[in-house]
Amino acid sequence: MGKTRANRIGILTAGGDCPGLNAAIRGVGKAAMGTYGIKVVGIYDGFLGLIEHNFRQFEWEDLSGILSRGGTILRTSRVKPHKFETDDGKVVDMTDVAAEHYHEMGLDCLVCLGGGGTQKNALQLTQKTGIRVITLPKTIDNDIAGTDVCFGFDTATSIATEAIDRLHSTADSHRRIMVVEIMGNRVGWLALAAGVAGGADAILIPEIPYDIEAVAEAVRARDRRGSRFSIVAVAEGARPQGEELTNDQLGKAPPDVLGIQHHVGTTVARQLQELTGIESRVTVLGHVQRGGPPTPNDRLLATNLGTAAAELLAKGKWGTMVASKGQGWRAVPLEDVAGKRRYVELDHPLVSSARRIGACLGDE
Ligand code: F6P
Repeated sequence: MGKTRANRIGILTAGGDCPGLNAAIRGVGKAAMGTYGIKVVGIYDGFLGLIEHNFRQFEWEDLSGILSRGGTILRTSRVKPHKFETDDGKVVDMTDVAAEHYHEMGLDCLVCLGGGGTQKNALQLTQKTGIRVITLPKTIDNDIAGTDVCFGFDTATSIATEAIDRLHSTADSHRRIMVVEIMGNRVGWLALAAGVAGGADAILIPEIPYDIEAVAEAVRARDRRGSRFSIVAVAEGARPQGEELTNDQLGKAPPDVLGIQHHVGTTVARQLQELTGIESRVTVLGHVQRGGPPTPNDRLLATNLGTAAAELLAKGKWGTMVASKGQGWRAVPLEDVAGKRRYVELDHPLVSSARRIGACLGDE
């Protein structure tokens, strides 16, 4: 008969890092050790640590002093156990090796802190090998299905909003168009939230393909009204009308197509300068949005979800993601989360408010 509760667990952080990961590790670990008497092992470098057997057992002190620290003390990687790239470029399935090491570490459950890719990898692992998993939703992109919000998003929104605030005064001083490129290669939650919070005049997101002429006209209209500048917030995955990528293409697109090397913000700034005659500049916020200490809201969210995960471990409820729901949390079956992305709905209140306050979303 299977165990009904966990006595020893592993924690790993996978995918891109984000503020709040350490707060979540601390939340899971302290509640697991202190409240439920569960031993906690930290696995390094995401799923790579499971494949390479790279781990250490945590003591209480290891989890002290990390609440406000950015990044992840466990480090991270984008390694997928079922599609592991070897040094000579081959792709092999390392799921069985990962499972073998999980058993050698004496684990009863693996807690995976990650984004959409991590939810999929965790489900693959549990389905293929029977390893028990519980996941937590982190990503500045805020695009994981089944949860109201992901930790990391609030901090990234604050950073991007502050950047837009700061761009206002320099834009005004020079009578310029300031294009600010914000992370989000598939979804526009961050650009939309920071754009509205920072009062951007145009906000371009992947879910609403833009017509550059519509954006230029919005800038000209502001100019005619005597506004000396315009701020354009662009998600890195924003695409012009007619050049949208399908979801399938997005899933497979190389980094330059996703805008990581090619910056869509540069194209938008160049085109707006040509179309309006107003001098333009571009600021790419990049990984600044993922660095540094988490906001109090992200610390609270990560702590709440982390301690909730410990409760599930003690109750033996695996195979779930601990999701944020209203003021609290709920356990969502991983099958309902993995492989689904939460896009900005076109009738979302934030989209409506942006339109009502006169922000151009590029489509009209
Ligand atoms: O975590 C998601 C994300 O922040 C995207 O918004 C961004 O395009 C991507 O990560 C960047 O990834 P990397 O750190 O691997 O360059």
